[in-house]
Amino acid sequence: MVNYKDLGLVNTKDMFKRAIAGKYAIAAFNFNNLEQMQAIVQAAVETKSPVILQVSSGARKYANQTLLRYLAQGAVEYAKELGCEKPEIVLHLDHGDSFELCKSCIDMGFSSVMIDGSHFPYEENIALTKKVVEYAHQFDVTVEGELGVLAGVEDDVVAEHHTYTQPSEVVDFVTRTGVDSLAISIGTSHGANKFTPAQCTRDENGILIPPPLRFDILEEIEKEIPGFPIVLHGSSSVPQDLVAQINQYGGKLVDSIGIPEEQLRKAASSAVCKINIDSDGRLAMTAAVRKVFAESPAEFDPRKYLGPARDSLKALYKKKLENVLGSAGKLA
Ligand code: G3H
Ligand code: 13P
Ligand code: ZN
Repeated sequence: MVNYKDLGLVNTKDMFKRAIAGKYAIAAFNFNNLEQMQAIVQAAVETKSPVILQVSSGARKYANQTLLRYLAQGAVEYAKELGCEKPEIVLHLDHGDSFELCKSCIDMGFSSVMIDGSHFPYEENIALTKKVVEYAHQFDVTVEGELGVLAGVEDDVVAEHHTYTQPSEVVDFVTRTGVDSLAISIGTSHGANKFTPAQCTRDENGILIPPPLRFDILEEIEKEIPGFPIVLHGSSSVPQDLVAQINQYGGKLVDSIGIPEEQLRKAASSAVCKINIDSDGRLAMTAAVRKVFAESPAEFDPRKYLGPARDSLKALYKKKLENVLGSAGKLA
């Protein structure tokens, strides 16, 4: 049993409280390898941002949970080495699907876990979430629950349509489970194809404009649970310059559409205090790697393509922290 505090990690409690009061959001970036961790820490240190390092089930399978935990432990030391005296880094389990998985992460040093019971019937979601909360809180680990289902793929679960979060359920859910934050469904979804062209309109230049998020539902939720930390998953913006670069160098991304940055800025100024971003990082890395391979086909040193991928990732993250989520300069 390792407690996250001994690793220099923090839970989400204090940073969420400050984010809601200060009308900004904390970024939760997924990571699976060394370069992603380095880019996240460099961006967080250079912008003086608190940050959440997020590990999915897929990441655990790919990289090994123990290694990822050591990388996160290393991230704290690395941030200090880069000049940050008191880094605020959370190690969070993304989309935990069972009590056993959450327990295993808590026992090995994660400071925050998500138990995603959103695909279960309501009472089952409550029972599972409550069980995780009861275990996690013994160790001061914070817990994110979810109500409502995002369209698209969530790990192995595919949902064709959104089931928006019902504001009438949130008080009951957060009171009975004791969760520290709540992920909601208001129109975001995972991946780089969040909307079909048929769901979008076009501007005068023919650029696809996606339908707005359901801010009306968010407002109703905020009225029900004022000041309670809200989480948005599926919040990549799918930058079109990255999509174009990928396609220019041999990729084949079709109809890739994300959540416009102004909508995320608006969400960040509400009780939304955690915004999950994974796909944009994948696009940044892929675009950089493809460019190196196309321009230098004789290159075979992984550092020569993973290095530019890491730089591009860091630049993307810095932009998010400074211009979209507003967490730059918000270390305690
Ligand atoms: O929620 C989805 C995240 O983007 C993680 O994706 O399960 O492929 O690692 P993954
Ligand atoms: P994106 O696919 O929009 O980056 O969402 C990531 C996410 O929600 C991870 O939990
Ligand atoms: Zn998610």
